[in-house]
Amino acid sequence: METPFVFGKIASGKSFTNRREDSRRLINNFESGTNTILISPRRWGKSSLVHHSVGECNATHGKIRFIMLDLFKARTEEQFYEMLARETLIAFSSRIDDIVKASRTLLGRFLPKVTFSPSPDMEFELSMDWEEIKRAPDEILQLPEKLAAQKKCKVVVCIDEFQNIANFEEPLAFQKKLRASWQLHKNTSYCLYGSKKNMMIHVFNSPSMPFYKFGDILFLEKLDAEDWHAYIRGQFRKTKKKITVGAIKLIIGLAVNHPYYVQQLAQLSWLRTTEKCDTTIVQEAFAGLTQQLSMLFHAQMDNLSNTQINFLNAVTDKAEHLSAKETINKYRLGTSANIQRIKQALLLKEIIDVTPAGVELLDPVFEHWLKDYYFA
Ligand SMILES: Nc1ncnc2c1ncn2[C@@H]1O[C@H](COP(=O)(O)OP(=O)(O)OP(=O)(O)O)[C@@H](O)[C@H]1O
Ligand SMILES: [Mg+2]
Repeated sequence: METPFVFGKIASGKSFTNRREDSRRLINNFESGTNTILISPRRWGKSSLVHHSVGECNATHGKIRFIMLDLFKARTEEQFYEMLARETLIAFSSRIDDIVKASRTLLGRFLPKVTFSPSPDMEFELSMDWEEIKRAPDEILQLPEKLAAQKKCKVVVCIDEFQNIANFEEPLAFQKKLRASWQLHKNTSYCLYGSKKNMMIHVFNSPSMPFYKFGDILFLEKLDAEDWHAYIRGQFRKTKKKITVGAIKLIIGLAVNHPYYVQQLAQLSWLRTTEKCDTTIVQEAFAGLTQQLSMLFHAQMDNLSNTQINFLNAVTDKAEHLSAKETINKYRLGTSANIQRIKQALLLKEIIDVTPAGVELLDPVFEHWLKDYYFA
């Protein structure tokens, strides 16, 4: 039987809920040719939101061509150019023959090689002469704009996991190249999204960086409790199971509105329910989930220094002033200068977020595990 909740993949169709404002803003930017930078911690719904908004655009007018890149696996600049060229060809071709022809006419100087997989869905690999690309990277960066002008249409290039460019050999020089080329584009705009909030903010919001003021920066929030409430109730109802108001609230509360975890905990609770889900079932599902993840959490702790662990202890205890002398002494955090370093390290590891409201743990199940098992 198909389960009504989705996690770990893109939420689409009926599994995608809400985000009306965010989606409208994104679509407005697509239509007006405004660049967008979308930032949130892991698993809050960036990819789902972009895919949903692209789908809406395609369904309402189909006037924009979207080029979709995912830098998840890109480790080098070379891979980036090949990916951009490949996805651009796909966006502008409807048949395999077109791809081969277009690769020759548009990318001829890079000696493109197209290798097809036997599957029918236009799967192919594109490889090019890297030495030649290094001489003229701009030609590939111009490709979407060139085709947009040729076909008289608008193009939006969506680049997922953009934070991965930090792993390239010369990230700053690479950003300079992109910026120099992209800022001249008239028919092409860019939607760049990723986690690693600090790195993304540094890239897009530091006056000294090439991408400073490149476009509209959107910080994605978690979904509201009311939105989750309606969604969970609806998904249970659809599958002819019931759930109490208390159980819904407990799911949202334990997952602290975190999109991935709300869906996962709802799913685990749904699986344990024959007729009606109540708070006991949710508690059991949550205990099972925590248990299941504890191995990973232990491994994560092995990667932390003692002072970082002590700092997490202070955070889970909700210690009010983390840099205060008493807190530093009580939790053995070293010197007050050390606190900044600890925060920075935990931010980079995407374990905490620092907001005006204070320091928060990003993973609600990890927080619960720390409090009730590790530090208990
Ligand atoms: N609008 C939504 N409606 C329902 N569920 C959602 C929504 N957005 C996200 N989710 C849930 O969160 C999970 C993660 O979403 P998604 O992969 O889009 O996040 P992400 O921010 O791109 O994550 P990552 O940083 O790991 O790439 C989805 O699998 C789904 O369970
Ligand atoms: Mg994603």
